[in-house]
Amino acid sequence: MSGPSVHALSPHPEERRRRVSLDHPSRRRCAAPQDEGSEEPKGHVMTDTPLLDVTDLATHFHARAGVVKAVDGVSFSLKRGEVMGLVGESGSGKSITGFSIIGLLDPPGRIERGSVKLEGRELVGLPPDELRAIRGKAISMVFQDPMMTLNPMLTIGDQIGLALEAHESVTGTERRQRAIAALAQVRIPDPQTKVDFYPHQFSGGMRQRVAIAIALLHRPRLIICDEPTTALDVSIQAEILAEMKELVAQLGTALIWISHDLATVASIADHVCVMRYGKIVEAGPVLQVLTRPQHPYTQGLLDSLPSRARPGAMLARGAGTDAAPPPRLPRQAESGHRRADLPYVVIETVGKRFQRKSGVLRLLAQKAGLVGPLPAVQAVDDVTLSIARGEALGLVGESGSGKSTLGRIVAGIYAPDSGQILLDGEPVMSPGERPHKITTRIQTIFQDPFASLNPRMRIGDSIAEGPLAHGLVGRAEAGTYVAQWLAAVGLDPAFAGRYPHQFSGGQRQRVAIARALAMQPRSTSRSRRRSSICCCGCGRNSA
Ligand SMILES: Nc1ncnc2c1ncn2[C@@H]1O[C@H](COP(=O)(O)OP(=O)(O)OP(=O)(O)O)[C@@H](O)[C@H]1O
Ligand SMILES: [Mg+2]
Repeated sequence: MSGPSVHALSPHPEERRRRVSLDHPSRRRCAAPQDEGSEEPKGHVMTDTPLLDVTDLATHFHARAGVVKAVDGVSFSLKRGEVMGLVGESGSGKSITGFSIIGLLDPPGRIERGSVKLEGRELVGLPPDELRAIRGKAISMVFQDPMMTLNPMLTIGDQIGLALEAHESVTGTERRQRAIAALAQVRIPDPQTKVDFYPHQFSGGMRQRVAIAIALLHRPRLIICDEPTTALDVSIQAEILAEMKELVAQLGTALIWISHDLATVASIADHVCVMRYGKIVEAGPVLQVLTRPQHPYTQGLLDSLPSRARPGAMLARGAGTDAAPPPRLPRQAESGHRRADLPYVVIETVGKRFQRKSGVLRLLAQKAGLVGPLPAVQAVDDVTLSIARGEALGLVGESGSGKSTLGRIVAGIYAPDSGQILLDGEPVMSPGERPHKITTRIQTIFQDPFASLNPRMRIGDSIAEGPLAHGLVGRAEAGTYVAQWLAAVGLDPAFAGRYPHQFSGGQRQRVAIARALAMQPRSTSRSRRRSSICCCGCGRNSA
């Protein structure tokens, strides 16, 4: 199926932008996308030509194991000020479409064919320095992990300054003022002070706001947001979504919003394109696609939404195709030893306080008796709960409510200050103690899979590393063992030879899950008694 022309389906995008401009006369100047410094071709009629015209775009990766057709003949166009949602399952080619548009592909990935035109100017095949001049200025990108944009060694003000200087010459004072204004624009409180902070001093939501501020710095005509709110908790997600909507409307910027979260797409996009296996399978106005989907795959995607689906129901990978469903995970609960009545993990009156560290000046002031120590933070306060075998417990709460700290105590990363953890009736952790002899039985899946995967190791080796070290598998059978776990999480066993960067975000998370689950002793009668638990911090989305 050839990709549809999205803007042809749009009834009122220009009207939407005009209304915003009229509502905010003071902002009309910002709304003009053809600001100074534009790469606008001479004689170009701004209102008639699409801002972005993607035709038959194909991006392939030429790996040793074969060619991966990540994007396989995608076409769409976007007008000024339009917001397009790009949705689809993990690995469908959404991010690679974004990277191809902005010219951020690393070998062995390359654009095989097709065209990407920005206001009539062909971007495919442009020399790297010309692409660099466009990137960050005419088109910018916001990633799921703001740390992909931010340098931990530089203050926020310096980073915004560097991004400014990439395309403009500014004086030192101007640089600081513009950085403060950029932070204020994305509603960072007290920007005059925060401009001197380092990224680690900001919360995840604030860091993402800074990444958005940097993306908006040169008033780009197009912003590509790749899952920008997926890692944030729902309240911050909603705030950022609302602010982003307002900002793109103010600035007249077109937006491609890449997400697997149909709810955010419904709330921000005018149009939506649904991707699968590198192709667009359905496109149209967001309401039409989400309420009256035509393609069986889109119908499956919508049916798998938690609000509609039965508990535990998954989108069949074969929806809309003849593809076979993925192999199922080996479940210990099915081998007849689920004992839901007996608690397997007991967390008893657990508490944890963190003493906040004072800076050098405060320490000196403390020594001089001028101030007292900073108050301690009670991260976990008298928590008691239990989990039965085969049961999954969801721990939800707003940012800073203690979820991760409790998870880390159970995983043995922190010792509790009070209370105890019992595993199968045996105390495994008591105040002040380090955990012992439970490392193969408790595994953690982190929100960011990069945190658990060594970027220099093939993922097959990463998955086999722990089971080999703990004698769960011998060297001779390690390959088959890894293949079994890759298949169990719905990945092709041939991927064992890839490095972490060669996966999509969702695929990488599956690798991290396979790595954690591979630490389960196999189902021998002894190991059944010693089944494992996993602490997951995969995401904060309440859905
Ligand atoms: N460097 C690479 N080498 C080989 N294949 C790659 C590489 N990077 C991505 N791919 C493959 O390209 C395909 C599309 O990946 P992409 O990152 O665009 O997926 P996505 O739709 O963004 O998924 P997600 O929702 O998980 O982020 C996937 O099959 C992925 O494995
Ligand atoms: Mg992606």
